[in-house]
Amino acid sequence: MDQRVEILFLSQEDMIEAGVLDMQNCVDVMDKTFRLLGEGDYLMGGPSGNQHGMKMYFPKEARGPRMPVDGPDRRFMALVSYLGGDFHHCGTKWYGSNIENPARHGLPRSVLLVIINDPETGVPLAIMDGNLIRAMRAGAVIGLGARYLTRKDAEVAGVIAAGVISKTCLQALDVGMPKLKEVKVFDINREKAEAFSQEMKEKLGLNIYPVDSLEAAVRDSDAVSSATSRVKIPYFKSEWFKAGAFFGLSSQANLADDFWLSAGVVADNWHMHMDWREEALRMPEDSMKLLIYGSLHQLILNGLMKDGDIVEMGQVVRGAVPARVNEDQRVIYITGGMGIEDVALGSTIYKQAAEKGIGKKLRLWDKPYWY
Ligand SMILES: NC(=O)c1ccc[n+]([C@@H]2O[C@H](COP(=O)([O-])OP(=O)(O)OC[C@H]3O[C@@H](n4cnc5c(N)ncnc54)[C@H](O)[C@@H]3O)[C@@H](O)[C@H]2O)c1
Repeated sequence: MDQRVEILFLSQEDMIEAGVLDMQNCVDVMDKTFRLLGEGDYLMGGPSGNQHGMKMYFPKEARGPRMPVDGPDRRFMALVSYLGGDFHHCGTKWYGSNIENPARHGLPRSVLLVIINDPETGVPLAIMDGNLIRAMRAGAVIGLGARYLTRKDAEVAGVIAAGVISKTCLQALDVGMPKLKEVKVFDINREKAEAFSQEMKEKLGLNIYPVDSLEAAVRDSDAVSSATSRVKIPYFKSEWFKAGAFFGLSSQANLADDFWLSAGVVADNWHMHMDWREEALRMPEDSMKLLIYGSLHQLILNGLMKDGDIVEMGQVVRGAVPARVNEDQRVIYITGGMGIEDVALGSTIYKQAAEKGIGKKLRLWDKPYWY
């Protein structure tokens, strides 16, 4: 009996060589992932099987001499999940996040690892850089939204925020919107919007340019993607959005009540968002304000909308419910990120790397010491 356990270690360079930056492939992987989600062939954390992850909350005041304290985007988090179908892998994304990292340490705000396991034995098969997985799958999920939720004649997009996630969102919009030709970019930091536009124009060969306001990025756009940091939560007015527009949200945003009430709302996994709401309701003080898409939850708590009004993206992808009720309906697509997306892309890159002989094998043991 061969009891040896070897783990494939994939550095960020290995991940790139194995194809993680191929956005067309990432969107296709998310397509399969959401189909499995719609069929129920997945598990995430907690008793509901839909929990986003386990988060460590730092206190406002340190209880030990070196204990970190609460701050913007300051967290440690583990996202565990199983994804079925051809993936048939379990996995964990484990990360730490500190908004001061770029300025103080020259590091990304979040530093992430993905671990892929055999679901039968629990044996770890691969450990890999999770930063590229996070960015690529977050973008790909918006591209998937564009594939199913934009009108077929969509040509113009508005991109809110000129950060890393918006780069992958735009690449993915280009995959999901075959006729995309013009992109307006708004960031509260104008220089970032300019640099982003230049870089993405060279990469995608589209007419991409910065604009001076949220409204300018949204007006006349067929699709809008927003991925802002928490520096300033953007406020979107319903009348800025043209008939039939698609609005893909990767991050917190404030939307007027009439916008939520009049548009179609599609979620990556509403049960996960319900889980977040339950957690927020158990937390003290103003937790509802911090809850992602809190104004939507508030409408439901006030009885103006029902949980059942939210359409599940998995059901749209598997064709069980229509993407929109008519061509003029505006669709808001809310995403919170799921461990199954990390497992899907991690599993795919692990297989691609193993096939090409990429990465380093790390031996855990030849024979287990105890069993
Ligand atoms: N849904 C998901 O799966 C998922 C995954 C990863 C990250 N995210 C979220 O995406 C967001 C962006 O992440 P990132 O790594 O690209 O951050 P980043 O720091 O690289 O970029 C964020 C950008 O947002 C800009 N910004 C902030 N407030 C703004 C506003 N009101 N209007 C316009 N621009 C504004 C900032 O100037 C900055 O350029 C974060 O909130 C993150 O939590 C979501």
